[in-house]
Amino acid sequence: MGVSEQEEVAVSRETANSSEYRAVSRETEPEFDTPIAREAAQALRAMNVRQERWPAPATTRLVTVANQKGGVGKTTSTVNIAAALALHGLRTLVIDLDPQGNASTALSIEHAVGTPSVYDALLGGRPLVDQVVKCEITPLLTCVPATLDLAGADIELTSQVAREYRLRRAVESYLEEASERPDYVLIDCPPSLGLLTLNALVAAREVLVPIQCEYYALEGLAQLLNTVELVRSHLNPELAVTNVLLTMYDSRTRLADQVAAEVRAHFGEIVLTPVIPRNVRVSEAPGFGQTVMTYDAGSRGAIGYLEAARELAERGRAHG
Ligand SMILES: Nc1ncnc2c1ncn2[C@@H]1O[C@H](COP(=O)(O)OP(=O)(O)OP(=O)(O)O)[C@@H](O)[C@H]1O
Ligand SMILES: [Mg+2]
Repeated sequence: MGVSEQEEVAVSRETANSSEYRAVSRETEPEFDTPIAREAAQALRAMNVRQERWPAPATTRLVTVANQKGGVGKTTSTVNIAAALALHGLRTLVIDLDPQGNASTALSIEHAVGTPSVYDALLGGRPLVDQVVKCEITPLLTCVPATLDLAGADIELTSQVAREYRLRRAVESYLEEASERPDYVLIDCPPSLGLLTLNALVAAREVLVPIQCEYYALEGLAQLLNTVELVRSHLNPELAVTNVLLTMYDSRTRLADQVAAEVRAHFGEIVLTPVIPRNVRVSEAPGFGQTVMTYDAGSRGAIGYLEAARELAERGRAHG
């Protein structure tokens, strides 16, 4: 751990229990030389980010966030991009498709075993609308939670008819019937390429791949891309990898730059221009049942996600 990261952690411990500090970031901002000026500037920046309205796509964009590698930032990216979109006027539904239920936790959505969840749509044949819950941040953000019931779903689905199409059917019916049709549906996948992820790939039109700026970042990606290609050619011809997001970027290491350059060389323009910095505020937020967009809107992590979501929305014009 480098010196500045230690500092960041120390600051974070000091402020984590005090809600009055949460609205304003206490990260180091070298351009402001007094604490008051720094906090005022960050509070202003945090307020301003919500005043813009971003362009809505003509039809709902269905985006699966997938990478079978664990801990690369799938859930963090799903919930923070979703929150950023919703805070800018775009109706957004998050579908938590991971039995760990991390996206539900981050959005502060009840997900104890037995709670109506995505399991009921996949294996109970219940309409998705029965499981859609409004999030506290803004009524424009909704979530279908995942509970531990989903842990056996990969196996339970195996014997079902149309097992790869379960989520797609549920989402299609929801979109046809919903009184408030979402602009975005973001699906958070578990770290595997099993039937749950397959369902997400069949239900979506776009795949967003978060890649952690670390050793072995590209390892295993061929397998994901191969799966996407198989789904595209056999089950869902509309599917494409449309966005790659570089996550947990640490500007102090040469390695992060090398990984970022390698990913950009490999994937070209589908890599979103903003990168998400490694930032302790991002990892603290779920502990408070929040996204970093509300937990500390002025933090580097929140600004990173804000800019990434804005570019995603801007690129969405092409899908409209
Ligand atoms: N930009 C960031 N800065 C600091 N910590 C981060 C950042 N992004 C993610 N993390 C932390 O890294 C860990 C993994 O992130 P996350 O849960 O989003 O990954 P994941 O791909 O969804 O994992 P899994 O494969 O288990 O579902 C979490 O503890 C999260 O808080
Ligand atoms: Mg996750």
